[in-house]
Amino acid sequence: MLRELRTASLRDAPYAFGDSLEDALSADVAVFDAAAARHADSHTATSFILYTEGHPAGLIGANFETAPARRAFVFALWVAPAVRHLSGGELLVNAAIDWLLSEGAAQVFAWVTDNNITAMRFYERLGFVATGDHARSAQTPEQWETLLVRDVALAQKSMSAQ
Ligand SMILES: CC(C)(COP(=O)(O)OP(=O)(O)OC[C@H]1O[C@@H](n2cnc3c(N)ncnc32)[C@H](O)[C@@H]1OP(=O)(O)O)[C@@H](O)C(=O)NCCC(=O)NCCS
Repeated sequence: MLRELRTASLRDAPYAFGDSLEDALSADVAVFDAAAARHADSHTATSFILYTEGHPAGLIGANFETAPARRAFVFALWVAPAVRHLSGGELLVNAAIDWLLSEGAAQVFAWVTDNNITAMRFYERLGFVATGDHARSAQTPEQWETLLVRDVALAQKSMSAQ
């Protein structure tokens, strides 16, 4: 399932991700199965799948950098075009943030390609702001990416205080 959704997202929105469709298609199926198995009980990396009416229709990854920084990230967010604007993306981000919070995150980061205005607006609407970090994509150096962040521990505290 992870492989199907990842290749579907790279086929639909290659501008949004650092990885290439060719790499994903040529990777051994076992690599995706192993990742999915690891994600089921890992404390450092996981993925969530969006189902609409029983069909897989979206994906998000969440992980922690290795120590000492151990910053928390969401990445590889994708919702199938037919079911966009129905809050599926928000649902995925919230699921990923809940998991990162439960694993000790206080802030959640996301790299967004500069020309991906839709994703930029989407994340801003969810309370993410620019960190000021701006870098060339590792896999596609002609593409620039902006690092966004959201304070999640603060949001949780103010919600529980209400
Ligand atoms: C970004 C993405 C995940 C949003 O998914 P979604 O399920 O439509 O998200 P939601 O319904 O929760 O929120 C949509 C909101 O995002 C913003 N948005 C989504 N599409 C937009 C567009 N074409 N233009 C402007 N804003 C847009 C709006 O704020 C929108 O609110 P609205 O639906 O009330 O208009 C989806 O557009 C997608 O998969 N895009 C291609 C892959 C991608 O860019 N991934 C992000 C990589 S960093």
